[in-house]
Amino acid sequence: MTNPMGEMNPPVRLLMTPGPSSVDPRVYRALASPIVGHLDPWFRDCMDETQILMRRIFQTENRITFPLSASGSGGIEASVVNSLEEGDEAICCVNGTFSERMYVIGQHTPAKIHKVEAPNGKPVDAEDVRKLAKGRKIKMIGLAHGETSTGVVTDLDAFRKVADECGALLVVDTVASLAAEPLHVDKQRIDICFSGSQKAISAPPGMSPITVSPGAEEVFRNRKSKVQSWYFVLTTAMNYWGKDRLYHHTPPISLIYALREAMRIVLEEGLEARWAKHKRNQLALIAGVEALGLKLLVENPKDRLVTVTAVMIPAGVDDAKFRGQLLEEFNIEIAGGIGALKGKIWRLGLMGYCSQKPFVLQLLAAMEKVLIDQGHRVSPGAGVGAANGVYLKAETPAMAAR
Ligand SMILES: Cc1ncc(COP(=O)(O)O)c(C=O)c1O
Repeated sequence: MTNPMGEMNPPVRLLMTPGPSSVDPRVYRALASPIVGHLDPWFRDCMDETQILMRRIFQTENRITFPLSASGSGGIEASVVNSLEEGDEAICCVNGTFSERMYVIGQHTPAKIHKVEAPNGKPVDAEDVRKLAKGRKIKMIGLAHGETSTGVVTDLDAFRKVADECGALLVVDTVASLAAEPLHVDKQRIDICFSGSQKAISAPPGMSPITVSPGAEEVFRNRKSKVQSWYFVLTTAMNYWGKDRLYHHTPPISLIYALREAMRIVLEEGLEARWAKHKRNQLALIAGVEALGLKLLVENPKDRLVTVTAVMIPAGVDDAKFRGQLLEEFNIEIAGGIGALKGKIWRLGLMGYCSQKPFVLQLLAAMEKVLIDQGHRVSPGAGVGAANGVYLKAETPAMAAR
């Protein structure tokens, strides 16, 4: 009998989306390494190394630090269900789809969940959280460091202050910001911080690096009721990642290889250099996009998340056609808006491996061609020229210093 399905041969796309990002060839090689048993002595060492790398990237010494076998949403769920139980109250700061997800997940627990909102394109005001917390016993304050649906970054320090004032755990979603935006889990005293493997770390999707402070660990141990999950009980899952290596579930071994290699790349580059690179590439992209006559959703430059640039779709340009042509003609994927922003914005991702000068220039050149094809008036070469201007300024002092 003949098999009607051929060998898989996916197209090689440039993923300039808010995730997943394209993957370095070194990570693909790690992914293809032989599977060993999850209790193999060699794999135990590989797990240790993975945790060492992860602690360096989170900048923490937290004991509970490991990759959850789940996508970023699993990180949200684990953080929320371990923190909250009957009788607790929590505040979720909502400024887009992913911070809203934390609120929605919170509603699956018996705790009372409050929401403090900000309009699209802006961070939540910590003062609004302070006002809501007044007179209440708040156990957890949760927010997204980088809100991927709008491209907004939130300054965490003001929220730490409010959490200190009400004795709450601070839970931070860094799915879209870890290894791209400055973050120091211990110095910033974040109680639970989680991320996603597929964004600025540029490993394949499917893992959620998570870290838990000793204070939060104590809160977990003092719970009166069981966590409403078996898979996501962080203290038990950590027994496999701790010195006892007690079987909990079979982890995605190949994904752990890939994550280890992707994190090695992050640290070879250096965290500060990587943060600076993401910033520089976004500034070049923004200069290019504005030179193409496009406007940004996030008005205040200090609120712009370096990994995701939200661009308003100009009148007369068809969202689906534009993105379809970029994909078909140039093999470049960008994302559209979600929720209330569907059809209103494009989200251009510069994450990890994709945050590179050649890719920024390629994207701008391709966008120019597609905009012109769709009847949008663009001065030829303006986008690439403006981006090159930013690079020239950024590179000249460095070159002169050589
Ligand atoms: C900030 C943020 N949090 C959580 C998630 C959910 O992650 P995942 O899709 O990997 O479950 C995403 C996904 O884009 C995200 O951007």
